[in-house]
Amino acid sequence: MTLQELAKSLHNCQQCKLAKLGRTQVVFGVGNPHASVMFVGEAPGFNEDQKGEPFVGAAGKLLNDLLASAHLSRDQIYIANVIKCRPPNNRDPESDEVETCKPFLMQQIQMIRPKLVCTLGNWATQTLLERKVGITKVKAQAFYMKDFVIFPLLHPAAALHQGNLLDTLKEDFKKLKEFLDRHSQPPAAAEPSAPSESTLNIEPPNPAQMDLFG
Ligand code: URA
Repeated sequence: MTLQELAKSLHNCQQCKLAKLGRTQVVFGVGNPHASVMFVGEAPGFNEDQKGEPFVGAAGKLLNDLLASAHLSRDQIYIANVIKCRPPNNRDPESDEVETCKPFLMQQIQMIRPKLVCTLGNWATQTLLERKVGITKVKAQAFYMKDFVIFPLLHPAAALHQGNLLDTLKEDFKKLKEFLDRHSQPPAAAEPSAPSESTLNIEPPNPAQMDLFG
């Protein structure tokens, strides 16, 4: 199955109760289907539900600025959410909704094959790390999974609600840029015709460093 076919198959998804709780549409995800960097948020909000695209409201505007600060553009990356339908009144996702929708996120990741997955906020981080760990403890660090690296970040909406987190978020995007720079091949070493996304090369550190939750 291709990413497009998966999106089509979920167009009128009825697999969880959110289908009947006032969503306008399923918000599958947008961006470069061959991205080496993917961002994963929590769930669509009002604007995303209206437009059918993740991160198009206030948090999305802030995310665009933060991406630019890390020299990333939205056409280069892919953005999706853990939950593809807006929960009523933007309430937190419920565990049955996460369980139902997570396999679709995992299929997206398998199809896009990003090298780096930046999780935005607690929901995405805990869902992909499969651990109930607070975002402030794990943010801006690389977690080497079998097929990709997870780089958790604060959710931009948290910085909009709590202004004091904005500087931290900006600092963390600087760390993301440093990580990307450290793992990007210099342009001369890349194939002249290769798209920029293929120049990211992340090798796991030595095994001792991999015990990240120890
Ligand atoms: N917050 C999210 O987690 N995802 C969106 O798409 C928008 C806001």
